[in-house]
Amino acid sequence: MIEVVSLSKRFGATVALEDVSFQVAAGEVLGFLGPNGAGKTTAMRIITCYIPQDGGAVRVGGLDTAERSVEVRRKIGYLPESAPLYHDMGVREYLGFVGRVRRIEPPLLGQRLEEMIEICGLKRMQHRLIGTLSKGYRQRVGLAQTLIHDPEVLILDEPTSGLDPNQIAEIRDLIKRIGREKTIILSTHILPEVEATCSRVIIINEGRIVASGTPRELTSRSQGAPRVYLTVEGAAAADVEPALRESGLGQEVRLIEALDGRARFALGCEAADPEAQLFRLAVRQGWTLTELKRETVSLEQVFTRLTTRETAES
Ligand SMILES: Nc1ncnc2c1ncn2[C@@H]1O[C@H](COP(=O)(O)OP(=O)(O)OP(=O)(O)O)[C@@H](O)[C@H]1O
Ligand SMILES: [Mg+2]
Repeated sequence: MIEVVSLSKRFGATVALEDVSFQVAAGEVLGFLGPNGAGKTTAMRIITCYIPQDGGAVRVGGLDTAERSVEVRRKIGYLPESAPLYHDMGVREYLGFVGRVRRIEPPLLGQRLEEMIEICGLKRMQHRLIGTLSKGYRQRVGLAQTLIHDPEVLILDEPTSGLDPNQIAEIRDLIKRIGREKTIILSTHILPEVEATCSRVIIINEGRIVASGTPRELTSRSQGAPRVYLTVEGAAAADVEPALRESGLGQEVRLIEALDGRARFALGCEAADPEAQLFRLAVRQGWTLTELKRETVSLEQVFTRLTTRETAES
């Protein structure tokens, strides 16, 4: 549905995007991650025809954004970083205005207004002035405005930024619900949000793509050999340690603490699937296992590793 081919953009001496290519299939929700200044907003503004690229091409539904911008814009709903809302207009009045700008004619306009107010949970607020709404409700008005012409593609730039955890959860659910029928690119700095909402993730840093894949692929790719934590009861740490070493599961055995007849170890395993073998070893040795847990890499750790200069260069 969206094809981005070798996109580049400079602002004076600043390289905002360099050779960025990716595709988003119909129905996918793509998460755009990257530190401040990575180029996320720039890419979104190019895809939505707000600024031209210097090099490369973007196609939305097969249409080139540089040649067919009017048709492309019709297919897209764009929620900018800070949605330009008219603070002295009522919610319903404003959405009606946006609908007319989008050339939606009555009676369809009235029907779309009802739907947007319903879907975005704005019923109680529909006659309030936008300027008097809380940030979360303003964001809902922004989303309603993005959706009013029923676009196939949604480009959402940090849709949950600045919201409290409850509002974040509500907006996230809303996006999930809408997302069943749409193709979405959303940028965010909230990593658990990506794991909850996105089918695929792209991490960009300094204008370049540094990783892409499903959230699971990204975390398991950087996992490496599994590290397992185990706690053993009913045996002395001094007996458990050599038994772990002799098991051949891994040479990296580290006693973390021994307390009240329990010993906790970290084990760097060579086997890809060490849990079953550790469990059998414990049974043979007569140990009681009270913990057997694999260390998992979070998306946050992947993100930090890929986007901090010190480690990226080492
Ligand atoms: N209109 C502009 N004029 C000059 N420089 C710009 C302009 N827009 C963006 N830039 C620069 O391009 C780079 C990418 O900016 P962009 O806004 O795309 O980053 P971002 O990933 O959206 O960051 P954030 O997470 O802070 O929103 C930055 O170095 C920024 O300063
Ligand atoms: Mg931005």
